[in-house]
Amino acid sequence: MRAAMLREVGAPFEVRDDVELGGPGPGEVRVRLRASGVCHSDLSIQDGTFPHPLPCIPGHEGAGEVVGVGEGVADVAVGDHVVISWIPLCGRCRFCLGGRPNLCVTTGSNILPRFRVGGEPVLAGMGTATFAEETVVGRECVVPIPRDVPLDLAALVGCGVTTGVGAVVNTARVEPGSSVVVVGCGGVGVNVIQGARLAGAAEIVAVDPVEAKHDAALGFGATHAVTPAGLPGLLRDVTGGDGFDYAFEVVGRPETIRTAWDATRRAGTIVVVGAGRADVQVPFSPFELFYFERRLLGCVYGSADPRRDFPMILDLWRAGRLDLEGLVSRRLDLAELPGAFAAMARGEGASAASWSCSSSRRGRGRSPALDSEGPSIPRKPLDLTVSVRHSRGQWSGRAPRSGGAAPWSRVP
Ligand SMILES: NC(=O)c1ccc[n+]([C@@H]2O[C@H](COP(=O)([O-])OP(=O)(O)OC[C@H]3O[C@@H](n4cnc5c(N)ncnc54)[C@H](O)[C@@H]3O)[C@@H](O)[C@H]2O)c1
Ligand SMILES: [Zn+2]
Ligand SMILES: [Zn+2]
Repeated sequence: MRAAMLREVGAPFEVRDDVELGGPGPGEVRVRLRASGVCHSDLSIQDGTFPHPLPCIPGHEGAGEVVGVGEGVADVAVGDHVVISWIPLCGRCRFCLGGRPNLCVTTGSNILPRFRVGGEPVLAGMGTATFAEETVVGRECVVPIPRDVPLDLAALVGCGVTTGVGAVVNTARVEPGSSVVVVGCGGVGVNVIQGARLAGAAEIVAVDPVEAKHDAALGFGATHAVTPAGLPGLLRDVTGGDGFDYAFEVVGRPETIRTAWDATRRAGTIVVVGAGRADVQVPFSPFELFYFERRLLGCVYGSADPRRDFPMILDLWRAGRLDLEGLVSRRLDLAELPGAFAAMARGEGASAASWSCSSSRRGRGRSPALDSEGPSIPRKPLDLTVSVRHSRGQWSGRAPRSGGAAPWSRVP
């Protein structure tokens, strides 16, 4: 089958048609992927920002159809549509039991040699390997979704949408009326903007050096969009010089984390969504760390529980409260993936891809209509009443939230 392989850090993605995949084994599910988004984290594996064992088949933002289930898998069936989650979710560790499955201690344990190329073992990148026609993951890494959700939109829920929206509603728990600044408005950043709009933020300032991204940011709900040079002026105008209530860093660099910190008011909250290098430092003085009493929060996968939050996000999309269609800026075939990452590395903004049928890419924002480019995935009219899984009583949609009132319930 076809898949994109990464041999070593710095090498281009290699699209091949001689990739073999075993399984599913006990407790596993085999998925025919229909779409996969292009997330900067895969570029970070390629350029060495993230240490990740190689060679691997990358890709971690995918959706598709179940084509096989292993022994012991009783609650997912062949034909089900699923979104893939890159968190293994053991269900037993202190994080899973404590309502923080995004931090499950088994993270990374699913980076297994599931593929073979030329007789050599090749790892499943981030445990998911969605840049392939088919993949095998543990049952806990698929979330069944109603069959009427277009799979190329559902794929984006697998990372960028959940991370961006979750950063606002789960990690930061932004209150209505807040002022928010978002530093970095790529595929994840525009979802932070959407999340801030959902949470009722009064001002949402988008910061990105690429002016071409500003229109998209405004379209997703930003009230202002500027380059980094324009931020001090806006900070004065919007916050009276005090600083923003919330700052989201969605780039992953020391200087942008500093920008987010400096743009936040005393006792404000900074959320680091960008995933940066392990071998560089961000300078903070001891004085400022105590004096400003700011909260500096990390954010893995939007502090989400995929079982709860994927269906929630799709509900918000159905209700017209979240824009998924607008996240697709281009549709690509798997063969075009190396070019997409090269464009992302040049800062041109990548986006999303779907195959077997066609391709789409998340990223630059407001995009050509989904059906306007390339062969399209058949789209059924939306059935807002009931899904196949609901009617069989096996897909209940979401798990209960822990820790008090759901921030989603504050959405106006
Ligand atoms: N925390 C998580 O769980 C998680 C999940 C997914 C992605 N990520 C990370 O989030 C980051 C963003 O991912 P993406 O897919 O949106 O990437 P992207 O390349 O689409 O977007 C990055 C954006 O940052 C902008 N930018 C660059 N320099 C900037 C600066 N000085 N000031 C403001 N903006 C600047 C770029 O122009 C671009 O629009 C990456 O580091 C990625 O690895 C983290
Ligand atoms: Zn991602
Ligand atoms: Zn766990």
